Amino acid sequence: PPLYVITPTYRRPEQLAELTRLSHTLMLVKNVFWIVVEDATNKNHLVAELLKKTGLKHEHLLAPMPELYRKKKGPKPRGVSNRNRGLQWIRQNAKTGVFYFADDDNTYDLQLFTEIRYTKRVSMFPVGLITKLGVSSPIVRNGRFSGFYDGWVAGRKFPVDMAGFAVAVEFLLQRPKALMPFRPGFEEDGFLKSLEPFEPQDIELLASNCTKILVWHTQTKKNEPSQPLDLAKYNSTNLVMLKQ
Ligand code: UGA
Ligand code: MN
Repeated sequence: PPLYVITPTYRRPEQLAELTRLSHTLMLVKNVFWIVVEDATNKNHLVAELLKKTGLKHEHLLAPMPELYRKKKGPKPRGVSNRNRGLQWIRQNAKTGVFYFADDDNTYDLQLFTEIRYTKRVSMFPVGLITKLGVSSPIVRNGRFSGFYDGWVAGRKFPVDMAGFAVAVEFLLQRPKALMPFRPGFEEDGFLKSLEPFEPQDIELLASNCTKILVWHTQTKKNEPSQPLDLAKYNSTNLVMLKQ
């Protein structure tokens, strides 16, 4: 059965660099189906071309962040409309397999995909380079779940990062209401709670009882060009400097 990778993405100067790197990771994974969802009202043709070039089985979808949240001051629910669109696609098109939310800017060890493929319900594993603790992970004692290690618990039942869990398609299909809330900081917790009946004790613990880091929450340094491209001097169709 396929491994569905749901990737939210949005238009910015770094977009093609991030997607190129992630695509080259996924090209090394067997039986993977890449669902790329743009936070935009129209498809970036450069993203479409990139997808085609990879030869990967894929779906290119659109799911703009609702105006209401886009206009709001402070933290925004980044990638939420994209992920919910991905979930909708899974509900309509998938029957078996596993899905994983893979942000376009993280770094993934190939071993991660080998391990999450066998998820029966919800699997979890450490995410590196996150918060001042440097890692977010379930804590395992004597082979059993015994809590969460996370730099920002904030009363969450599941204080984990988006990159730290995978879900079986059949498990999702049995929960028709499962959805990600538009609530900054509580997206993971809200989604995992919407999967009930599901308790922390039900988590499948991967990455050698959560002792190995197979995914890192890397972030690309912003380098916003301060000047528009001078088309009279240099004309390239392969530069995406435009914002939506
Ligand atoms: C952290 C978590 O790892 C994300 O999964 C979570 O969505 C995010 O916080 C959040 O709660 O806001 P972080 O690195 O801070 O991630 O966020 P980004 O990497 O900037 O965004 C997460 C994903 O959403 C990325 O794949 C990005 O391409 C996408 N995104 C971001 C959009 O689609 N639209 C946006 O306006 C911003
Ligand atoms: Mn990120």
